[in-house]
Amino acid sequence: MTVPAFRVATLTLNPALDLTVRADGWRRGEVNLGQSLQFDAGGKGVNVASFLADWGLGVTATGLLGDENPEQFEALFREKGVRDEFLRVPGPTRVGVKLVDAAAQETTDINLPGLTATPELLADLDARLDALAADHDAFVLAGSVPPGVGRDFYARLTARLRAAGRYVALDTSGAALQMALAADPLPNLLKPNIHELEAALGRSLGGEDDVLDAARELLGRGAALVAVSQGEEGALLVTAGEVVRARPPRVEVVSTVGAGDAMVSGLIAARAEGLGLADAARRATSFSLGAITRLGAHLPPRAELDAFAAQVTVETVGQREAMGREP
Ligand SMILES: Nc1ncnc2c1ncn2[C@@H]1O[C@H](COP(=O)(O)OP(=O)(O)OP(=O)(O)O)[C@@H](O)[C@H]1O
Ligand SMILES: [Mg+2]
Repeated sequence: MTVPAFRVATLTLNPALDLTVRADGWRRGEVNLGQSLQFDAGGKGVNVASFLADWGLGVTATGLLGDENPEQFEALFREKGVRDEFLRVPGPTRVGVKLVDAAAQETTDINLPGLTATPELLADLDARLDALAADHDAFVLAGSVPPGVGRDFYARLTARLRAAGRYVALDTSGAALQMALAADPLPNLLKPNIHELEAALGRSLGGEDDVLDAARELLGRGAALVAVSQGEEGALLVTAGEVVRARPPRVEVVSTVGAGDAMVSGLIAARAEGLGLADAARRATSFSLGAITRLGAHLPPRAELDAFAAQVTVETVGQREAMGREP
């Protein structure tokens, strides 16, 4: 008997197309020479879809995509075999221009406005999500909400998907996170970074005990796993029965963009395989390390990820009875 494959859908309401222009020594108000120009399809859910496809999982990406500049997204999905279920919306997906002066090690950002959702579009999106809920096991809701989308969007969608028995992961910030954390039920998986969690709860989390208290509060209200990431310090992963801290090794960082998106992806990959918490922490951190040691939302080959995983320090925090489960 074959086990049905674990299918993941990622939702990106507010994708972004990054345009990186390198022009060393450029000066305002003058004619400058550039060295290169590159477009990259981005947005947190798009990144998660890209990482999970690299890992070999069946992935569908949905959300709102402008019909004026979808080419980079379509090319990415085609190359990686991601099923494209994005709604096409009249207008452009927001563009982020990055003007890089590599000589001065300086980047200037210009963020252009993007789409505004209408009630009709949101009704279409609801229908699309309900259809995807029929044959996807897990949903990753990621990133900011664009104009026109209510801040309670993730909270309401989480309730619908969980009622349908789906596993829901949420990675967002600001008011959207705050509302989702105040709602019932909570997503199964939350991966805020420490700053996002502090902002959403409205209090500072100075030490590990504060972070643990905050995570346990969320577990008590229905979350199954809370992973609080802290950049190069690693992450604290908390479930009802276990707490582990995962510390990455020192690596040559190329770009930390997408470190957290990779961690979410690794936790979903671990879920797909039914890994225990310590192994999930190792896997998730190896995805982050894979992501930050190259440009773009791409993972290295499995052997390299396994080598990173072996270098992650995973410690069980204050729960001696869980020690036996360490590999
Ligand atoms: N400089 C670094 N060195 C080693 N590991 C890192 C570094 N930065 C991030 N990581 C790894 O990536 C994980 C997630 O990073 P971080 O907490 O910065 O996520 P984030 O703030 O959500 O990032 P994102 O920009 O993708 O939203 C960390 O737990 C850690 O394992
Ligand atoms: Mg993040």
